[in-house]
Amino acid sequence: MTTTGMTGTELVTGIGELTTHDESGERRRDAALVIGAGRILWIGPAAKAPAADRRTDVGGRAVLPGWVDTHTHLVFGGDRSAEFEARMTGQAYAAGGINTTVDATRAATEEQLVATARRLRHEAEVQGTTFLETKTGYGLDVDSETRSARAGARVADVVTFLGAHIVPAGMDRRDYLDLVTGPMLTAVRPYVQYIDAFCERGAFDVEETREVLLAGRAAGLGVRVHGNQLGFSGGVQLAAELGAASVDHCNYLEPADIDALAAGTTVATLLPACDLSTRQPFAPARQLLDAGVTIALATNCNPGTSYTTSMPFCVATAVLQMGLTVGEAVWAATRGAARSLGRDQGADAVGSLQVGGRADLQVLNAPSISHLAYRPGVPLTGAVWREGGRVER
Ligand code: NIG
Repeated sequence: MTTTGMTGTELVTGIGELTTHDESGERRRDAALVIGAGRILWIGPAAKAPAADRRTDVGGRAVLPGWVDTHTHLVFGGDRSAEFEARMTGQAYAAGGINTTVDATRAATEEQLVATARRLRHEAEVQGTTFLETKTGYGLDVDSETRSARAGARVADVVTFLGAHIVPAGMDRRDYLDLVTGPMLTAVRPYVQYIDAFCERGAFDVEETREVLLAGRAAGLGVRVHGNQLGFSGGVQLAAELGAASVDHCNYLEPADIDALAAGTTVATLLPACDLSTRQPFAPARQLLDAGVTIALATNCNPGTSYTTSMPFCVATAVLQMGLTVGEAVWAATRGAARSLGRDQGADAVGSLQVGGRADLQVLNAPSISHLAYRPGVPLTGAVWREGGRVER
């Protein structure tokens, strides 16, 4: 991340529409806020703004929290554009394609992995992303997963261990599960906060996924699940049963899956760019929301199924194709996402603008967040602040 260090206080004024995600849920008009020491110090009507060391007038533009991208796979080598092209001629996506990226990742040095991940993180930041999770999962041996976890920790805010992405080529299934839940977990543990598993045909079944997740939980990690992406895998039910922080994808859901999520606290993280790139049906976002499930939106940036860092694209797609209102989509891409990381409340909260909270915010070159979907594909991100520092372009 590159930000310009700022000292003193900064008044951001002339805000035409301010989205804070406070309890009222309202978008404020003619607002201002003051930033200092990386925090929000004051929010209120522009006419009552206190003095500050510096003043930035955003000229009637919209201001909102920075995006929180909770599902990326930025640590990888190579690319899979040929596989993408084949898919666009009708070939189906299959989990086995991951092996191509595993070979390229094993061949890369840690510095190469960090350089790629940093490039992608910067690309995300200039589109408004101020907090970002990444996963391991393209190393799949002890050395390569450890290198990936360490590289991830150098670039991202949160790292998830995804040793259980697939059983790598040439390895016995049982031996691999023992490795993931034993020496590999021990080796990556200093660098990661969550464990994840790909519960899908071609990857891991429900019982294997449960074994991996429980091993991670016993090691003190939070639990996330890749579930129901390519079919009715049982991953969503398992995530709900274990009280996972998040279950991601959720394309194929039975009514019982939605009921299980609605009865618990697991966030359903939806990945619209991946749905487009794999030509899967969109996750039933509207049904989930109407049932009372908390949803998040994320990019799933990875070289196989979703090679984009653009949260604005995901927000626009969620509105135009998945039946969300603009307000719901923006909430899911900020505060809902933060909830899936346990970061939506308290002093370290992200994804909302609150006095005392982190100064992670963005200006849109537009008067309202509605333009995110009203003008899809147009690069509307203006200035971005991360912990009070301006992100350099
Ligand atoms: O979230 N689904 C599993 N993992 C990634 C894709 C990985 C790949 O194909 O490289 C995903 O879509």
